[in-house]
Amino acid sequence: MSVMDLVREDLRDFAGYQSARKTRITGDVWLNANESAWENAGIGDAALRRYPDPQPPALREALARMYGCRTECLLAGRGSDEAIDLLVRALCRPGGDAIVVTPPTFGMYAVCARLHGVPVVEVPLVDDGRAFACDFERVEEACRASGARLVFLCSPGNPVGAALPLGRVAALATRLRDVAVVVVDEAYGEFSGTASAIGLLDEHDNIAVLRTLSKAHALAAARIGVVVADAGLVEVLQRCQSPYPIATPCADAALAVLSSEARAATSARVREVVAERARLAAALGACAGVRAVYPSDGNFILVRLAHAGDAFQSLLDAGIVVRDVRQQRGLGDALRISIGTPGQNDRVIGVFAALEERVGA
Ligand SMILES: Cc1ncc(COP(=O)(O)O)c(C=O)c1O
Repeated sequence: MSVMDLVREDLRDFAGYQSARKTRITGDVWLNANESAWENAGIGDAALRRYPDPQPPALREALARMYGCRTECLLAGRGSDEAIDLLVRALCRPGGDAIVVTPPTFGMYAVCARLHGVPVVEVPLVDDGRAFACDFERVEEACRASGARLVFLCSPGNPVGAALPLGRVAALATRLRDVAVVVVDEAYGEFSGTASAIGLLDEHDNIAVLRTLSKAHALAAARIGVVVADAGLVEVLQRCQSPYPIATPCADAALAVLSSEARAATSARVREVVAERARLAAALGACAGVRAVYPSDGNFILVRLAHAGDAFQSLLDAGIVVRDVRQQRGLGDALRISIGTPGQNDRVIGVFAALEERVGA
């Protein structure tokens, strides 16, 4: 059995939309896509009058080089959000198969499942007060019991911050072989010392890894994310994707951030974020009213507070917007704070220090 047996049976030989850019014919006068024969006077860029290649080869190759995988194992799309949606649609029959998630976690897994009519089975992370951990045994049990086709693991976890041990992820994939695809969402992977699950793909065709240019690479507006998986599965996902997912200006921006100079600068920024993360965590951890600061492998920290609502409002009053995660399971007293510039982090620390004075007064 291969991972292809986990794909929805009705989609295994689904051809998808045959766009004008998919046909492998060549010529110098292109009249097959009802594009304008003239460029727009307001822009004057001839490249923009044409539909883009569905997977611009230069971009796909540069991404595959950076992530250390074969080109045919990588599909680029509109952020990793789109990859999540494609996986749910290609693997789960509406009303039939489930997904397993480990809350508190990134909300889009459940949103995509709901929109597709797919049940969401929750196996909460286990919080010992100092860190959140995944209960891999219960994830396996839930998967088998519910007939789930997909497990979404977030590593490093949003909003909890912790990266998952790679050996446990590999062992889960082994046990769920022929049962489900284990998706490892590494949106914050650059900020973590844990190796990528992409290295597990040769041994485990039921692992799919999500990466994005939105976080460490500072390109959220271009909406470029990828799924790295078995080449056959990637082909199926592409057939389920919209005809032209990568806008040409976005592909150009992505190629620019993938240049060696830009990547070196990104690595330096990541080191700065990691240092600032430690500084912010230490400063907030020393404030009265802060119950816990969770260790983070991402570009954010999760804090528990005696008066989370007051802290959120005080930050807002100071013009600082953080993520209020109090609605999430088990996080009724928590806020998630992205790591900013040193100056921005100083302002956050200043608000917490002022709160401390008020509480102490
Ligand atoms: C864990 C996680 N996965 C995926 C995404 C979506 O990222 P993208 O911008 O690539 O769609 C986010 C965005 O916040 C995230 O936190």
